[in-house]
Amino acid sequence: MPGRIPENILDDILARVDIVEIISGFLPLKKAGRNFKACCPFHHEKTASFMVSPDRQIYHCFGCGESGNAFKFLMRYERLDFPEAVEVLARKVGVVLPRDETPGPKSSGISTQMYRINELAANFYSANLNLPAGLKAKEYLLKRGVRPEIISALKLGFAPDNWDGLLNYLRSKGVSLGFLEKAGLAIAKDSGGFYDRFRNRIIFPIFDIKGRVLGFGARVLDNSLPKYVNSPETAVYTKRKNLYGFNLAKDGIRENDFVVIVEGYLDFILPFQEGLKNITASLGTALTIEQARFLKRYTHNVVMVYDADTAGELATLRSLDIFIEEEMSVRVVSLPKGLDPDSFVRQEGIGAFKEKIACAESLFDYKLKILKSRYNPKEIEGRAKLSGLMLETIARFKNAILKSEYLKKLAQELNLKEEALLEEIKKVKTEKMHAEPQGLPVRKTHNTNPTEKLLMSLMLEESDLINRIRETLSPRDFQDERISRVVSIMFNLVDQGKAIEPQILMNHLGDDVLELVSESVFLTQNAPASEAHREKVVCDCIQRMKNEKIKLERQRLHEQIKVAQAVGDEELLSRLTEEFHCLIKKKAG
Ligand code: CTP
Ligand code: MN
Repeated sequence: MPGRIPENILDDILARVDIVEIISGFLPLKKAGRNFKACCPFHHEKTASFMVSPDRQIYHCFGCGESGNAFKFLMRYERLDFPEAVEVLARKVGVVLPRDETPGPKSSGISTQMYRINELAANFYSANLNLPAGLKAKEYLLKRGVRPEIISALKLGFAPDNWDGLLNYLRSKGVSLGFLEKAGLAIAKDSGGFYDRFRNRIIFPIFDIKGRVLGFGARVLDNSLPKYVNSPETAVYTKRKNLYGFNLAKDGIRENDFVVIVEGYLDFILPFQEGLKNITASLGTALTIEQARFLKRYTHNVVMVYDADTAGELATLRSLDIFIEEEMSVRVVSLPKGLDPDSFVRQEGIGAFKEKIACAESLFDYKLKILKSRYNPKEIEGRAKLSGLMLETIARFKNAILKSEYLKKLAQELNLKEEALLEEIKKVKTEKMHAEPQGLPVRKTHNTNPTEKLLMSLMLEESDLINRIRETLSPRDFQDERISRVVSIMFNLVDQGKAIEPQILMNHLGDDVLELVSESVFLTQNAPASEAHREKVVCDCIQRMKNEKIKLERQRLHEQIKVAQAVGDEELLSRLTEEFHCLIKKKAG
């Protein structure tokens, strides 16, 4: 965490924020005893294992282990960095953050720097479009029907035809070239030095929802290849998470309660400019689960528009099952051969395009139609293949009524027995067709020592206990390295006269121990103990840990004695034996 936001301010923000209110702004939370629960937004699940505690102001998912306080939630859910999450919550509760005394790249996080550099680069490219060198690019855009207003709204630009145009510009602004490479704008030469990634191309900046520049796409002006060069993945740009044009279309999408998804930059630009305001582009890749979930916050209704050549591909159709899994409605438009949304709108007009969208077919109808053109439904084999592929989609409906209705429909369409389909659908593995966000961190199962864990959770419940425990134990006495770290931080906080609140403690913990802490909190909360019982548990735990400590010490000495015997070091041997006896006495006493 950054040192520049004073801790008392962080504590103050957390004290005023209600995590239940924050999270319920994003997901529907249901009351469950003293907590709230929901289906986890960070992994795919059918039953709710994501818990939010209003008492302790933290969340924890018993499925994937994701956990933290309100800051952490915003960081994960809204993909903010720590200072950004702090800013959002500070504003919400009316806490004024101290002004950053030393502005500029050095004082801010890497993503903040990267946004700034991307912004500078976008300015450079866009200015070029109006210089003589950029004339041919401007003419190209105008010739394709892109109007000046949208050129400036999308900040389209031009990368000049040389190796160091951007490099020199940004160097003059004091940006380090190494950082330029990290931002994906420059490429390192084998011989040392750097060169511009984008040259002699039209530039399409890619914005996030706040209008920050994440990266760029760049198109040639002729038919040469590759047609597009794109920013690589950087600290701020993840291809699978973004949608082009969304920043301009989000209100339109909300108002219309559906979103039109197209593939390319220009497929977004032309329809949008002509008045279709609820459109966004996937930039040529199959839709991802992250994009689906992101869209779901704005609407549950999707219309995909494909060129004739991609529309029939099985891979394309499969990717649409994501929306079914997310319980969204998805319809499909396939354009006549040779046309994409951009050329269709230019040729037929926006009215005709909107009509196409209004007549979009449901995924079920559309997929069945495509499959029927490939497999002959008059042949038994064809029908078997066809139904198998249709069942892949139907199996993903979570809603039992939809599932059974579609099964019925499929049986009718293919003239098959519903029972046979029911039998078959059981065999369909609805295995994850998508990698979960960063492939859901494979959960390491730590063998945490139960005594240490229990003691830690008791300390988390009751700060007073910490002082008592610290009289007998030190963080090093905890054998589990993670627990040892948590305990040491708790001791430090107590030193500063602070009460131990899990949500505040979490600001001081690394991601790898958050889960351990929040799990303890939720579990002890579910099994409250009486005062007397607790006292006994505490004493037992401390005693057990002391015994364990002595046992380990004895083992260590025993090993050392064996070594001393083997090498025949009499002096060492007698010293170790002495120690050993002391230890045995200590245990007896
Ligand atoms: N794309 C890409 N790299 C390529 C080709 C395509 O990243 N080499 C992405 C771009 O985002 C592009 C989208 O896939 O916008 C769709 O590709 P395509 O249909 O080939 O391009 P168009 O956007 O239609 O471009 P244009 O109309 O200018 O030919
Ligand atoms: Mn095109």
